[in-house]
Amino acid sequence: MTAQQTPLEYLPPDLNRELLPKHVAVIMDGNGRWAKRQGLPRIMGHKRGVDALKDLLRCCKDWGIQALTAYAFSTENWGRPQEEVDFLMTLFQRVLRQELRKMVEENVQIRFVGNLTSLPPALQAEICRSVEETKDNRGIRFTVATNYGGRQEIVQACRAIAHKVQQGLLQPDEIDEATFERHLYTSGICDPDLLIRTSGEMRVSNFLLWQIAYSEIYITDTLWPDFDRSEFHRALCAYQQRERRFGKV
Ligand code: IPE
Ligand code: IPE
Ligand code: MG
Repeated sequence: MTAQQTPLEYLPPDLNRELLPKHVAVIMDGNGRWAKRQGLPRIMGHKRGVDALKDLLRCCKDWGIQALTAYAFSTENWGRPQEEVDFLMTLFQRVLRQELRKMVEENVQIRFVGNLTSLPPALQAEICRSVEETKDNRGIRFTVATNYGGRQEIVQACRAIAHKVQQGLLQPDEIDEATFERHLYTSGICDPDLLIRTSGEMRVSNFLLWQIAYSEIYITDTLWPDFDRSEFHRALCAYQQRERRFGKV
């Protein structure tokens, strides 16, 4: 990566460039509560949530973080009121269309993880377009988890591997962690070093179950629409204080 692609001069002086996480994942929670506190409908929280995500992506880029993964919609979120689900699908579609040009210019490579085939066709089309138009970009890798569930991801990987075994393309004894990882949606993306969850909930809600085995977890009470650069700075400071042992001493 050239200095031009990552203007690390913007990095706050108390952050150590060598100790930055390579990959940050975020569970963007608390949009509904944010809206409620403002006396607004829940959907307004989702709108503001998009602004917070755009700011975070730019911040990661400015500070030289190589990958950002954001949890936008879980396999369980279909259980919300239909009008909220519809609003979210339309919002994702609109934001993708509006932001694509900027992502191309800013060298962002976008990809999506999740069961994309059951998303509305118009959203799927927008997803395909944005992935295709940014696939050669070599700046930050931005992954959006949409209709994503960690359990569903593991099951579909098992199914794909079982088919290969059935066809004689793979022997059961050849299945190891690397084989398994290649069949996950996240194949080719390194595991998150830091997982951030906003709004104070102490759970992972079916996000990246395999991939967060050794991620450092940071939970803040701040609601997602209020998660700004200074909040992210705090999360990175906390991360840099952690001693990552990976089971060793
Ligand atoms: C997270 O905010 C956004 C999505 C799950 C799409 P919520 O909508 O879950 O907000 P709260 O948790 O109800 O406050
Ligand atoms: C997790 O938030 C999913 C996303 C942020 C997309 P939820 O609000 O759906 O999680 P729970 O229901 O509090 O576990
Ligand atoms: Mg929530």
